[in-house]
Amino acid sequence: MTHEQKDRLRSVVVGIGSYLPNRIVSNQDLEKSLETTDEWIVQRTGITQRHIAADDERTSTLGLRAAEAALADAGLTGKDIDLIIVATSTPDYVFPSVATQIQAGLGMYHGAAFDVQAVCSGFVFGVATADKFLQSGSHKRALVIGAETFSRLLDWTDRTTCVLFGDGAGAIVLEAQASAGTVKDRGVLTSHLRSDGRHFDKLYVDGGPSATRSVGHLRMSGREVFRHAVGMVTDVMADAFAATGTGPADLDWFVPHQANRRIIDASAEKLGISPEKVVTTVQYHANTSAASIPLALAVACGDGRIKKGDLVMIEAMGGGFTWGSALIRW
Ligand code: UT7
Repeated sequence: MTHEQKDRLRSVVVGIGSYLPNRIVSNQDLEKSLETTDEWIVQRTGITQRHIAADDERTSTLGLRAAEAALADAGLTGKDIDLIIVATSTPDYVFPSVATQIQAGLGMYHGAAFDVQAVCSGFVFGVATADKFLQSGSHKRALVIGAETFSRLLDWTDRTTCVLFGDGAGAIVLEAQASAGTVKDRGVLTSHLRSDGRHFDKLYVDGGPSATRSVGHLRMSGREVFRHAVGMVTDVMADAFAATGTGPADLDWFVPHQANRRIIDASAEKLGISPEKVVTTVQYHANTSAASIPLALAVACGDGRIKKGDLVMIEAMGGGFTWGSALIRW
C-alpha cells in the first residue's frame, strides 16, 4: 500500500448493536432498601431506572450479545473482523481480557483482541485506538465494544453512588474505506483524548489485585467530578471542531456519555448545541460507563434519528480523570 492510499483510509461505521440485561430496577425499587427517593434521583440525575445483569451474565456475555447484534447489522460475521477492542472497567477476570473471550465467543481464531481501560471514557478511547489501526492500513475491520457490569462494583448501601449506575453493552463495526478525506466523507473525522492522573481519588475503586488483593467498591466525590466534567468535555469537543473546521451548528447529533442529565444539558448549552440534537438515554440506562455511548448510539440509530451521512459528536469523561471526543460522519 502506498503512503498516498494510506492517507485516504477512513474508519467508517458499518454496523451497530447493543444488549441490555432483562432485569430493570426502578428508583422506586431502590427506595425500599435505601434512604433515597425517586424525586431526588430524577431531579439530580435524570435517571428513572437501570438494567442489572443476572447472576449468570458477565461483562463478556453482554459484550458478546452486543457484538453479535452489530455484526448482524453490518451483514458480517466474525470471519470478516480482524480487530476487537473492548472498553471496560469491569472485566470478568483480571485476565485474560474480555476481548479475547468475545473473540472466542464469535468463533474467531485470527486477528487481535484486547481491552482498553479508561473507565467512562473507554468507548471514546476504543474508537480512537481502532481508528488509528484502521487508518494505518494494518487492520481492515474492527469491533469496538463498550461492556460493563458496574452493579458488581457498587456498594449497595452507599446511596451516593449505587443509584447512579447500570449494566449493559454496545458495539460498532468500523471498516477501513478509501476516502476523499473531506469533512463531508463518511467515517471518524477526528478524535481527541486527554487524561490527568492527579484526580485519582475523586472517582476510583478501592480495591485491586496489586493494592488490596480484592475487587473493592466504586467510590466517588460526585460534586467534585461534576465540577470538572463540563469544562473537560467541552474543551475536547472544541478541539474536535477546530481540527475539522466545523462547529456546533454543523452537528446533526450530540451523543454524550450518559452520567447525569444536568452535565449533558450544561455541556450542550455551553457550546450552543440545540437541545433537539442531544441524544439522552441516561433516564433508562443510568450510567453504564464505557457502554453508555454505544447504547445511546444504538437507540438513536434504531429509532431512525441517526442516519447515514449525519455528523455525530461523541464525548465522555470518567475516572482518572480521562476524557475525550470523537467526531464521526455516520
Ligand atoms: O461517569 C462519570 C462519573 N460520574 C459522574 O459524572 C457523576 C458526577 N456527579 C453527579 O452526577 C452529582 O454530583 C451527583 C448526582 C452524584 C450528586 O448530585 P449533587 O447535586 O452534586 O448532590 P451532592 O453530592 O451535593 O449531595 C446533596 C445531598 C447531600 O445531603 P446533604 O449533605 O446536603 O445533607 C447528600 O447526602 O443529597 C444527599 N444525597 C442523597 N439523597 C437522597 C446523596 N445521594 C442521595 C440519594 N438520595 N441517593
